[in-house]
Amino acid sequence: MVALREVTRETVRAVCALEVHDHQKGYVASNALSIAQAHFEPGAAFRAVCLGAQPIGFAQWRRGDVPGLAILWRFMIDRAQQGRGHGRAALESVLLHLRTEGFSAVETSVVRGPASPLGFYLAQGFVELGRETPRGEWLLARPL
Ligand SMILES: CC(C)(COP(=O)(O)OP(=O)(O)OC[C@H]1O[C@@H](n2cnc3c(N)ncnc32)[C@H](O)[C@@H]1OP(=O)(O)O)[C@@H](O)C(=O)NCCC(=O)NCCS
Repeated sequence: MVALREVTRETVRAVCALEVHDHQKGYVASNALSIAQAHFEPGAAFRAVCLGAQPIGFAQWRRGDVPGLAILWRFMIDRAQQGRGHGRAALESVLLHLRTEGFSAVETSVVRGPASPLGFYLAQGFVELGRETPRGEWLLARPL
């Protein structure tokens, strides 16, 4: 069973070494870039997705510009660990965490295309908002 854990000086290299499949690389930033960006974004937070002590994925979120709204900013499972239900379990943990932090809704955005995670999010209760971010990503949301 996966758990969300703080990234520490012991795990940061392993978290930054996690990779998606080559055909998924245009759909999510590297974890190193995400962690760097988080330090310049008010209200941003991130966690390693761990199987026991081993980091197998990464999740990052930030406050939206509406009270109660969280933005799921980055989310990935390492290519060696995909297709085993860890993504769904990790997303459930993230949503539970956001709820306990007091958020009432979450938005995310996806790049559309053959390897898009759109279907993954729709299966987890997200709905399409029918509009794009300024960077051209397709917006999704769900209540918490
Ligand atoms: C999207 C991602 C997190 C899914 O992780 P995963 O561990 O492979 O997902 P799971 O094994 O938990 O899959 C859960 C369900 O979603 C489905 N699913 C997984 N990826 C999917 C996709 N891209 N499109 C449609 N359905 C998908 C699975 O088939 C499974 O369906 P089932 O319940 O019928 O068996 C992973 O593929 C990933 O890291 N992708 C690259 C990064 C990315 O795009 N992140 C999101 C944008 S920030």
